[in-house]
Amino acid sequence: MLCAPLALFGLFYASAVTGLAIQKRAVDFFDPAQGGGSIFDNATFGGEPLNVIISGQSSPDVLTDDGILNYAQAIGFSKECLGLHLGTPQTANLGDGNGSLNQTIEFRQDFGNDFLGTCFESLLGGNHFRVWRQNGPSANSGALFLAVSKEQDASANHDLVDDGYNIGRNELVAAAVGTKSHGGVTYNTVAKNITGLMPAGSDGVNHGIAVDGVITLLTVTIQDS
Ligand SMILES: *[C@@H]1O[C@H](CO)[C@@H](O)[C@H](O)[C@H]1NC(C)=O
Ligand SMILES: *[C@@H]1O[C@H](CO)[C@@H](O)[C@H](O)[C@H]1NC(C)=O
Ligand SMILES: *[C@@H]1O[C@H](CO)[C@@H](O)[C@H](O)[C@H]1NC(C)=O
Ligand SMILES: *[C@@H]1O[C@H](CO)[C@@H](O)[C@H](O)[C@H]1NC(C)=O
Repeated sequence: MLCAPLALFGLFYASAVTGLAIQKRAVDFFDPAQGGGSIFDNATFGGEPLNVIISGQSSPDVLTDDGILNYAQAIGFSKECLGLHLGTPQTANLGDGNGSLNQTIEFRQDFGNDFLGTCFESLLGGNHFRVWRQNGPSANSGALFLAVSKEQDASANHDLVDDGYNIGRNELVAAAVGTKSHGGVTYNTVAKNITGLMPAGSDGVNHGIAVDGVITLLTVTIQDS
């Protein structure tokens, strides 16, 4: 487990002193609560947990809009079906000085077809996630914070499955770890769990679905070809 935020700031200063190149960031992420933000976003009926973080120490190309799209495709997600968006965007404050922002992008499980697969997801239910980037002036880690959840099919009006946050996180992580390729890019992903930043339970959580309080940190490295 990380001793945030001191260990994170320590890493940051250590690398500033040694003058490491800035191609790769020096911190995994900053705890949003330290900057007045929250590890929960704002949804219709409470907050959804930001239960997966893609480390700021990942390869920089993974952390861009195009990069996260290709990575999402490598692990079985793609942009929403035909660009249609069901439901209103959610907002989150990552405590980086940018305040509360709409999600950057939303990905749905694609069932093996980048362009049409997400349509099946909308009908059949499945896993999806929303993304926010921590790059504001006061906590510029570059990390991506993901709100991952698993839904039932459309007949259930996109309600989450029981335990949909924990299951969604675990399924995404299981699909991501190890070596995955897409669009000519090969990724190596390592997972690590973090406790102590997110309270467990259902207090204030969207739909009253309890979370186990575990955040999984993914560090994604692009392999040299
Ligand atoms: C957004 O979520 C945070 C953290 O859960 C909460 O403190 C805040 O009141 C929420 N804001 C709105 C407008 O719901
Ligand atoms: C967030 O999304 C809502 C709904 O689409 C939109 O009305 C609002 O302007 C957006 N806010 C920002 C800051 O982009
Ligand atoms: C967040 O802050 C950074 C640095 O000030 C800025 O470049 C970026 O555009 C901001 N992001 C959004 C979505 O406003
Ligand atoms: C993280 O925690 C979840 C839930 O307890 C567990 O299923 C998973 O195996 C853990 N992953 C790692 C990398 O420790």
